[in-house]
Amino acid sequence: MFKDKVAVITGSASPQGLGCATAEALAEKGCNVVISDINQENCDKTAKMIADKYGVKAIGVAANVTVKADNTALATAAVEKLGRLDIWVNNAGVLRDDLFMRMSEEAWDLVQSVCLKGVFFGIQAATKVMMKAKYGKVVNIASVAGLVGSPGQANYASAKAGVIALTKTAAREYASRNICINAIAPGYIHTGMTGVLPDKIKEELAKMAPLPRPGTPADIARAVRFLASPEADFITGVVLRVDGGAAIGL
Ligand SMILES: NC(=O)c1ccc[n+]([C@@H]2O[C@H](COP(=O)([O-])OP(=O)(O)OC[C@H]3O[C@@H](n4cnc5c(N)ncnc54)[C@H](O)[C@@H]3O)[C@@H](O)[C@H]2O)c1
Repeated sequence: MFKDKVAVITGSASPQGLGCATAEALAEKGCNVVISDINQENCDKTAKMIADKYGVKAIGVAANVTVKADNTALATAAVEKLGRLDIWVNNAGVLRDDLFMRMSEEAWDLVQSVCLKGVFFGIQAATKVMMKAKYGKVVNIASVAGLVGSPGQANYASAKAGVIALTKTAAREYASRNICINAIAPGYIHTGMTGVLPDKIKEELAKMAPLPRPGTPADIARAVRFLASPEADFITGVVLRVDGGAAIGL
């Protein structure tokens, strides 16, 4: 289904993260992938692991999503080194949790910059290439925090709510160019990002989901793969919750 297609996944170098799982899910079905993250060496390591494991082309390209020129260079690298660009997953993210009363301006700015501005730049860079091909799939990784709010995460929850609004707006703007733009809202998934949370909070987050098992990176990756596939060709502007039912009703 993805043979000869090319996907860029931002923030995908960490082997435990959702981005790497997404790259693997796409590569498993024959997609060539660009592994992108802030550190070139880590990108190269993950790209090699994927190329060896799945027999696809995989390259590592360092890019800081908060820098517009890095996003443009990332799209250019996909086209120049792998020949095309069909799928772009805006996955990079950071947490700097704190209560409203204590949250610093730096913590606010960093999270808004990576989680929201980075997605804006990513959509711009991806669609510039995809418009010429009159085909493309962009999947933005939001969060249930952006739907229901989350104590201690004013910066993160508002950035993720912004990602949802960006997704809907971009979906409307680019529909006439046959570019589908959707979002996934994951619930709590154990990764490097959430691994640092205190155990009590992790237990509480896991309990929010009615389904009686913890979510895994592969659960998110398969949902991204669906939205990036031709099976989702008539789907644009949706926010798909992959949260074990944690935010049922929204
Ligand atoms: N894990 C969860 O429970 C959960 C829930 C909802 C949403 N999410 C979202 O899923 C995405 C992936 O998170 P994860 O849990 O795999 O965390 P992770 O920390 O494993 O992955 C995030 C990656 O983004 C990279 N990154 C950070 N700043 C960057 C920048 N400026 N430019 C490029 N890359 C940068 C990091 O190096 C890291 O590899 C994030 O957008 C996160 O907000 C995660």
